[in-house]
Amino acid sequence: MGKVIAITNQKGGVGKTTTALNLSASLALAGENILVIDSDPQGNLTSGLGIKKDQLKRGLYELYTGKIRLEEALSPTEIPNLFVLPASMDLFAAEIELLERSDNREMSLLKLLAPIKDNWKYVFIDCPPSFGLLTLNALIASESVLVPVQCEYFAMEGLSLLIKLLWRIRGGFNETLDMEGILLTMFNRHIALSRQVAEDIRRIFKSKVYDTVIPRNIVLAESPSHGKPAVLYAPNSAGAQAYVALAKEILNDNSLLF
Ligand SMILES: Nc1ncnc2c1ncn2[C@@H]1O[C@H](COP(=O)(O)OP(=O)(O)OP(=O)(O)O)[C@@H](O)[C@H]1O
Ligand SMILES: [Mg+2]
Repeated sequence: MGKVIAITNQKGGVGKTTTALNLSASLALAGENILVIDSDPQGNLTSGLGIKKDQLKRGLYELYTGKIRLEEALSPTEIPNLFVLPASMDLFAAEIELLERSDNREMSLLKLLAPIKDNWKYVFIDCPPSFGLLTLNALIASESVLVPVQCEYFAMEGLSLLIKLLWRIRGGFNETLDMEGILLTMFNRHIALSRQVAEDIRRIFKSKVYDTVIPRNIVLAESPSHGKPAVLYAPNSAGAQAYVALAKEILNDNSLLF
């Protein structure tokens, strides 16, 4: 059974795309079939996987607007069992076009993914830093949310707002939407504030916080400009190793269920 997981946080620049890119790649390198969807018009995930978004003709926009079928929107990547559903700036228009539709416009992605999601072990959706129809579609299409949180001031405020939003989604649209896990990102153990924020989040959210912590590591910021996830660009870097550890933690967690 394929599990659809939205990587989301309305706060910008917290590591959503870096996580989508490197977690997908790490799981795929561990042998799992993975699909990652770029649901952000910024298209950073798309370019981070080496796809030129300016020339994109088959992506999430074309899919939402019915111009192509889902199979036509999938692009292969350098890792054979990792596929991406890419996006470009055009996706901004999809949000507006979805708004103009009156029929179940928030259920579009759920319906599009239903026939194919079991082809994959995981389908990750990289969400934009906003609460529009693109995020709503992602949250309705997902079984759970993975929330990257930057270990900095205001992290807790952002997180409480997100939890409130998730409750509203559960109440109105997706009753079973679960919290997959909270991921501490850009952690710097030499900075007291970073340690304090991590401690506070663990105290409140307990086992929902992954043991794996993603350190601040320049390789994670550099590798997208080479069109590669860090796990391919510099597999021995601290950043790449942290995402490999996260992938193992996720796979081990799930194996406990069986
Ligand atoms: N662990 C890290 N160490 C160093 N730099 C990082 C790390 N994680 C992310 N970055 C860098 O920080 C910036 C923001 O990260 P990213 O794009 O993943 O965040 P985001 O939540 O997807 O942002 P947005 O809300 O704009 O979509 C990027 O330049 C990225 O390369
Ligand atoms: Mg992003």
